[in-house]
Amino acid sequence: MSETAVDQNPLKDMDDLDALRIEAVIATDEKHVYRDYEAEARSTVREFYRLNHTYQTLDFVRAKEQEFKPGAHGEMGIWEAMEFLNNLVDDSDPDTDLSQIDHLLQTSEAIRANGLPRWFQLTGLIHDLGKILCLLGEPQWSVVGDTFPVGCAYSDKIVYSEFFTANPDYQVPEYQTSCGIYEEGCGLDKVHLSWGHDEYMYNVCKPYLPESGLYMIRFHSFYPAHTGGAYGQLFNDHDREMFKWVKAFNPFDLYSKTAVKPDAAELRPYYEDLISEYFPAKIAW
Ligand SMILES: [Fe+2]
Ligand SMILES: [Fe+2]
Repeated sequence: MSETAVDQNPLKDMDDLDALRIEAVIATDEKHVYRDYEAEARSTVREFYRLNHTYQTLDFVRAKEQEFKPGAHGEMGIWEAMEFLNNLVDDSDPDTDLSQIDHLLQTSEAIRANGLPRWFQLTGLIHDLGKILCLLGEPQWSVVGDTFPVGCAYSDKIVYSEFFTANPDYQVPEYQTSCGIYEEGCGLDKVHLSWGHDEYMYNVCKPYLPESGLYMIRFHSFYPAHTGGAYGQLFNDHDREMFKWVKAFNPFDLYSKTAVKPDAAELRPYYEDLISEYFPAKIAW
């Protein structure tokens, strides 16, 4: 990369995003000691959101929805995709050497330990597999981070919402009303959210998982709505009902990270069995 080029991948560790979210919630917990690297994480997260908010336009999202229709990138089994995703192992985090597969297994194991249904456990296991987009050449700002609707006004519940002034859609009056290009109460299925691993994985899983699991995958990064309470004008009654699942899933995603590394080899037979209940040996990516 030339010195003048913008670094498309400012995050050394994609978990920085979650680390800052958790910090916001448990900042008063004196048992939690924060490391110096968090100041750096804060500036890389800021740069990450500057890129994300500048380039995620309605046109960009529509183009990515076409480009990443399932099948465009071959076939893989679920466990194979987990191992593929593990190539995203991060070695810059001073606090943990947990990999992507560890996060998936910690999430599913926390759900399992709470006695929740098998489809819920499976959803936890696979919810971030869409991050393989990074390995398919997509920049971080097009894969991770909180999601938000495009084609309508930006909520101030979106982190770093001040960066939207650089987004070309900000200059389009039609896109800057409360509902924008959408009808009030139209339902989230008609709404284009900023592109990332949630929407991609939702499309990959659509033929196989129960709808509640699909909602959890599709909207788990939609923090402005599931945590911030924004964008109710675009929800229909069914979305409101299904968001109970999205909210139920969130703590397992956010708080299941512990230093204890799950034993993937030991857990694999249990999860291979669970995967085969819902998925064929190979699925389209
Ligand atoms: Fe995620
Ligand atoms: Fe996650």
